[in-house]
Amino acid sequence: MGYSTLLFLHVLGAFTLVASVGLFLAIMLAVRRQPDTLVAQRMLPTARVLWAVGGLSALVFGIWLAIHVSQYSLTDGWILGAIVLWVIASAIGGRISAGYKNLGDGSLAQSEALVTHGLLVLSVLLLLLDMIYKPGAG
Ligand code: HEM
Repeated sequence: MGYSTLLFLHVLGAFTLVASVGLFLAIMLAVRRQPDTLVAQRMLPTARVLWAVGGLSALVFGIWLAIHVSQYSLTDGWILGAIVLWVIASAIGGRISAGYKNLGDGSLAQSEALVTHGLLVLSVLLLLLDMIYKPGAG
């Protein structure tokens, strides 16, 4: 696959990931307003699928790009940093998903929801900054 196609698929994955974060925020706000809301329950599967597909394709095509572009290496600080941040973001996303498992019976730990969602936004924002500014790269 050529560079342009890899970059297209990678950035498409990144957009998908960011879209899922927006959905997770909407779900959190809906649940805070009304714990037994059906709206949140119906948005949840979409958010989960976008999160998984976006996250996986950003990772796979990101690593592929790092190998493909001779200027970069997998061991560059900003690439390693992205992989570490990706693992952190995945763990937070997994926590959020698990927290919504019993959505509908109002049992979501709401005090922690704001913090985990804040950390999710922060980790994806740091990933994006790392991608755009590529600290340490030529
Ligand atoms: C998880 C590991 C990741 C790796 C190894 C990785 C690696 C890369 C590489 C090598 C490029 C090519 C840069 C170029 O062509 O100059 C790139 C571009 C880009 N990545 Fe990632 N990426 C990862 C995750 C992400 C995530 C999660 C996002 C979104 C939040 C993201 C957003 C972008 C964007 C917007 C670009 C285009 C910016 C540019 O080329 O200047 N990446 N990435």
